[in-house]
Amino acid sequence: MILDKKTAGVDPAVLSVRELVSGLNRYYYVYTFGCQQNEADSEKIRALAEAMGYRRADRAEDADLVVVNTCAIREHAEMKALSLLGNFRAKKKNNPDFILGVVGCMAAEGHIKDILKNKFPYVTFTLEPNMIHRLPESVFRYLTDRKRSFVFGEDRGDIVEGLESVRQSPHKAWVSIMYGCNNFCTYCIVPYVRGRERSRAGSDIIAECHRLIDSGVREITLLGQNVNSYRSDLDFPDLLSKIAEIDGDFIIRFMTSHPKDTSDKLISVMAKYKGKIAPYFHLPLQSGSDSVLKRMNRTYTRDKFLSIVEKLRGSIPEIALSTDVIVGFPGETETDLEDTLDVLEKARFDTAYAFIYSPREGTPAAKMEDQLAEEIKGERIKRVFALQDKISYEKNLPYLNKTVRVLVDSREERGGSVIYTGRTDTNKLVHFTCDDASVGEFTNVKITKTGAFDLIGAKE
Ligand code: 5AD
Ligand code: SF4
Repeated sequence: MILDKKTAGVDPAVLSVRELVSGLNRYYYVYTFGCQQNEADSEKIRALAEAMGYRRADRAEDADLVVVNTCAIREHAEMKALSLLGNFRAKKKNNPDFILGVVGCMAAEGHIKDILKNKFPYVTFTLEPNMIHRLPESVFRYLTDRKRSFVFGEDRGDIVEGLESVRQSPHKAWVSIMYGCNNFCTYCIVPYVRGRERSRAGSDIIAECHRLIDSGVREITLLGQNVNSYRSDLDFPDLLSKIAEIDGDFIIRFMTSHPKDTSDKLISVMAKYKGKIAPYFHLPLQSGSDSVLKRMNRTYTRDKFLSIVEKLRGSIPEIALSTDVIVGFPGETETDLEDTLDVLEKARFDTAYAFIYSPREGTPAAKMEDQLAEEIKGERIKRVFALQDKISYEKNLPYLNKTVRVLVDSREERGGSVIYTGRTDTNKLVHFTCDDASVGEFTNVKITKTGAFDLIGAKE
């Protein structure tokens, strides 16, 4: 179902909370863990909080409404969020009006929701990722009846349109195009917490992009757990073409893609709209071993993966590639790990994000035999990092003495000089000096030094 919420104007809960907190000088603070989808959701939470009459606090300590937007992808992220919550125990004791909400993927895990409800009495509500728009309702219930609410398992197929965002950056915007995932990779919690794939209408997405570009946004990142399987009246390459055809000085990025859906049509659209669609592709490998890929339910082989890499580079020679790798999947042997290192050598990604496998309750891999010891996983990830650091360093060398276009993100004074930071179209981090760059605009930078993780230069 598609729900249309025009945030502030019509939601009775927003208006009621606004009335309740009017004149009280109430402040909010949002913590964000996890992926860009959560970043995008947090921007909507900020808009809802402001529509309800809360003002943004610089520090959580000063806030009357704290929302923790959580991630469930690995245990580490969950532990961080749970220990953060502990900081608010005393605050709640001293201030009965204090509201602590836990939203996002952890709230959609049944066992975590129960822990929050039973062991964290100072958590006032939880909302799953697809329920962000119900935040005002939860706040209202607590302010009026002191009722804690733990909404669970409802509306998982819905798409909510019309929520506003308070964006972190005036020149960069996230645009969610689809939600959920149908792939059920055996290690992954996402399909359980974010539900099945559903795509927004093409017309809604295109209208949103028009509005963003008209307001001066220079970079749009299309978001989804699996953007290539976007499907409405348009498929993903058609959607990309339509956005690329909008007039204006902007660049389009997208995340994340599954190799199985990386079609020739998509690659040719990227090549056709080179100036508008960033020559950058995040293509998660996960493992270079066919037997591990099979047990991960990834549905491609290492050869198939490498052939996609070859096609991308064949059509868009300047393209930068990044990937995700999991080490220590159950039953991963030394030979499997060597296969992963071998694919990294062959694919030569610009960047690889490597993660230690973390068993997630309710996923098939968590029940597999041969879970590996932490020491083995720790030793293996070090080998992945060492190899990739070397490749990343080598991949950046050709940038030396080249002039690149950079979208300027920030300006900072450091020890008497001004350093600007931005990203190339290929998503490389660039620090540069200059007399007069404008944050939020494209500028040309000549690279004078390269490293594995960034480029240094001066405005040309
Ligand atoms: N353990 C470790 N890493 C994981 N990822 C997903 N699930 C797990 C898990 N259980 C990684 C994958 C994915 C990235 C976002 O997080 O590499 O692409
Ligand atoms: Fe998780 Fe696989 Fe879906 Fe990515 S494609 S969100 S790794 S299940």
